Amino acid sequence: MLEQMKGRYSVRKFKTDPIEEEKLMKILEAGRIAPTAKNSQPQRVYVVRDGELMKRLGDASPCLYGAPVVLVVAYEDSLVFHRADDYARNSGDQDASIVGTHMMLEAWSLGVGSCWVNMFDETVVRDALNLPESEHVVFLLPVGYPDMGPSARHDDRKPLEETTVFL
Ligand SMILES: Cc1cc2nc3c(=O)[nH]c(=O)nc-3n(C[C@H](O)[C@H](O)[C@H](O)COP(=O)(O)O)c2cc1C
Repeated sequence: MLEQMKGRYSVRKFKTDPIEEEKLMKILEAGRIAPTAKNSQPQRVYVVRDGELMKRLGDASPCLYGAPVVLVVAYEDSLVFHRADDYARNSGDQDASIVGTHMMLEAWSLGVGSCWVNMFDETVVRDALNLPESEHVVFLLPVGYPDMGPSARHDDRKPLEETTVFL
C-alpha cells in the first residue's frame, strides 16, 4: 500500500478516454466503505459526467483539468455525528475527506488518476447540482486517465522529524 501511495500524484491533465463503468463503481465502493464518525455516513458523492453539467462545474473551478468524470463530495449536515459534550465539533469535513482519500487511492490502484480540488466556487457548484441548504460541498475530485507525470512538488515532502513528534 505504501508503494501505491508513493506512486500516486496529482493529475492536472487527463486523457479524454472515459473511465470504465466497472472501475468507476470500484472507486465509489471504496468511498462507500470508508469509516465515518459513529458510522454516520453523511457523505454525498455526486458523479458528474454529463456535458452540460460538466460545463457548469467548469465555471465553478479552473481545476477540472479536462477530466471525464468529476466527483463532487459533500456531506448532509443533519446526518453528521455531533458529540454530546462538544456540539460545536463537526465531523462532516473529516468524514468526507476520508471518503475522498479512499476513492483517490482506489482510483490510483486501478490506473486512474485524480486531483483533490479545493479551489472552487461553492455557490456555483450548489446551483449547478441544485443542492439543498443542508448539504456542504467539501472538495471536487476530477478523475480520469493521466496524460502527464508527477509535478516537481510531488516528491517535495518534509522529513518525518519536521512533522512528527515522538513523545
Ligand atoms: C486539501 C487539498 C486541496 C487541494 N486543492 C487543490 C486545488 O484546488 N487545485 C489543484 O490543482 N491541486 C490541489 N491540491 C493538490 C495539491 O496541490 C497536491 O496534492 C500537493 O501539491 C502534493 O502533490 P502530489 O499530490 O502530486 O503529491 C489539493 C490537495 C489537498 C490535499
